[in-house]
Amino acid sequence: MGILVKQVSKRYGSTIALREVNLFFEKDRIYGLYGEMGSGKSTLLKAIAGLIDCDAGFIELSSRKNELSFLDQDKGLYNELTVIENLQFWKGVYKKNAREIKEVVQIFEMSRILSKRVSELSAGNQQMVALATALLNKFKVLILDEPTVSLDVKTKQCFYGFLKKNQGDSIIIMSSHNIEEIMTVCTDLIQMEYGKILSTRELR
Ligand SMILES: Nc1ncnc2c1ncn2[C@@H]1O[C@H](COP(=O)(O)OP(=O)(O)O)[C@@H](O)[C@H]1O
Ligand SMILES: [Mg+2]
Repeated sequence: MGILVKQVSKRYGSTIALREVNLFFEKDRIYGLYGEMGSGKSTLLKAIAGLIDCDAGFIELSSRKNELSFLDQDKGLYNELTVIENLQFWKGVYKKNAREIKEVVQIFEMSRILSKRVSELSAGNQQMVALATALLNKFKVLILDEPTVSLDVKTKQCFYGFLKKNQGDSIIIMSSHNIEEIMTVCTDLIQMEYGKILSTRELR
């Protein structure tokens, strides 16, 4: 299994968000997508997740739809529902492919916030819940757009630990504008600039 991105371009009006991007992603790797704001990271991740169409080129992805987990930069939580209700909703979406809710609750040691409404949580805790909903899937492909933004150090460590344990036979792609984080957590670094791939490098 792999993901092939071939000559992919995308524009929004006069803005070119992706310029002839070519990449190949393999399983058992954690890819870190690094670039300044506006360099095209979110557009690329959404295109791989199948959430937007490209103007040119194509993306080949062999996993089934419910084997792909995507964490949007805009979180995608139901703010008026409680944390546990959000987790139950996503468990329903992933169906047979879902983990037990208690597994993700354990990853982040988040049992004390389960009955709170998402709207009452701090930005960091909202991000943690959003991340937990993405990890609720026994994914083959995990795509995370800036997963650690506003997380505290302890929650980041819980997340990194989960990734190391679950790298297994899945493809993990995460974006970050923190290069140190990518150097620590990822096996591969992909640098973007102005919608282009500047470089790709195996880190380990
Ligand atoms: N929905 C959209 N409509 C118009 N322009 C967009 C849209 N999404 C992204 N862009 C533009 O495309 C470029 C790449 O954006 P994005 O992929 O969000 O970059 P990054 O995630 O690296 O910050 C930016 O110039 C941004 O303003
Ligand atoms: Mg972005």
